[in-house]
Amino acid sequence: MLFNPFKSVIGLDIGDETVKAVRLDLHRLSFKKIKTELVSYAEERLPDGSMFEGEIVKPEEVLHAVKEVSARTACKHKIPWVVCALPETKTFIKLLSIPVKQEMLSLNTIYEVAKKELPIPFNESYLDWQLMPHISNQSETKILLGAVLKKTADAYTYLLNIAGLTPLALEVEAMSITRTSLPPNSSGTHLILDIGQTSTTFIMYSNQTIQFTLSFEFSGNLLTERIQRALSCTEDEAERIKILCGMDFENCICHKQGQTKVCNIKEVMEKSMDELASYVQKGISFFSEHFSEAAEVDSIILSGGSGQMLFFDKELSKRAGKPVVRGNPLARIRTNTTLAKESSRPYMRFNTAIGLGLRGLHSPLGI
Ligand SMILES: Nc1ncnc2c1ncn2[C@@H]1O[C@H](COP(=O)(O)OP(=O)(O)OP(=O)(O)O)[C@@H](O)[C@H]1O
Ligand SMILES: [Mg+2]
Repeated sequence: MLFNPFKSVIGLDIGDETVKAVRLDLHRLSFKKIKTELVSYAEERLPDGSMFEGEIVKPEEVLHAVKEVSARTACKHKIPWVVCALPETKTFIKLLSIPVKQEMLSLNTIYEVAKKELPIPFNESYLDWQLMPHISNQSETKILLGAVLKKTADAYTYLLNIAGLTPLALEVEAMSITRTSLPPNSSGTHLILDIGQTSTTFIMYSNQTIQFTLSFEFSGNLLTERIQRALSCTEDEAERIKILCGMDFENCICHKQGQTKVCNIKEVMEKSMDELASYVQKGISFFSEHFSEAAEVDSIILSGGSGQMLFFDKELSKRAGKPVVRGNPLARIRTNTTLAKESSRPYMRFNTAIGLGLRGLHSPLGI
């Protein structure tokens, strides 16, 4: 983007349990060459019950966390520009075919189609859409339609304004995750799984766009709870064991009452992995049964904190019968020199925030 006025943008991901932010800067190296830099990131845990399934329940608590992370990422500069994610569960996204040539497509036609397709009331929704690559002589136009309930979006906008931030855009989370998981205009069919703290988002990508998304109740918290029950230990201990051992059972050592022994988490972790593979299978079957242009899934791309789990990729690949890779949100971004020196890099957890920042820098006013 040649004349983008927004050279520093904050990507803000407000989850049910944490608020995460990144600051991305755009540097023009020459007329044609630009560099995107991750300057800083920050995270703040929300007090319990502040958010519920994407709805702001305790505005004061959320406001405090938003102010805190935006001030920390801005690093003393005044950066008001922010792109914020809309919660997966409160948004709708679908690829639609409209039987009209692209040149003839009007706003009214899009509204008419949206009225029929939306699972939420049309008058209570904000819409956004993206035209899919145009093939000449085609009698239909494909658009990716996104919608959100006005009351959800208004609550986010109000909160951001009070925090002193100016939203350039509010974006359906699946779009930001896709932006960081795949290079622009990637070919092939890929399933992106964002496995977070409270849920998993399933994003089916094919024909250079998102086809549909699903959300299901598999999460990092669920794994921790199950380990806690299996070992009768504290939540903190279960979380520690999950991160330390993941799916590496043989080398998983527990310390209890002065004794050291192998932690028995094999059964509970294998069962959980089978459960995830079955969700994945159902989603893939839905795709092949309901989408006329459905193709074989080439790969599964992991995103979100739980995707970092040890041997998770290998175990899921075994069960799903597909190659599984971890997404690299920094694939097209440089980190600044301070961040580059950090030994542990939590960036898979910042996938959404980074994708939002990229939207702000490279396509601030359009999807
Ligand atoms: N190395 C690791 N191994 C296993 N789990 C991990 C690892 N690192 C982080 N996690 C888990 O990732 C989860 C947090 O992921 P993430 O930050 O993506 O969630 P979130 O975006 O806050 O939640 P959500 O998207 O559900 O709102 C936690 O459950 C944490 O235990
Ligand atoms: Mg998340």
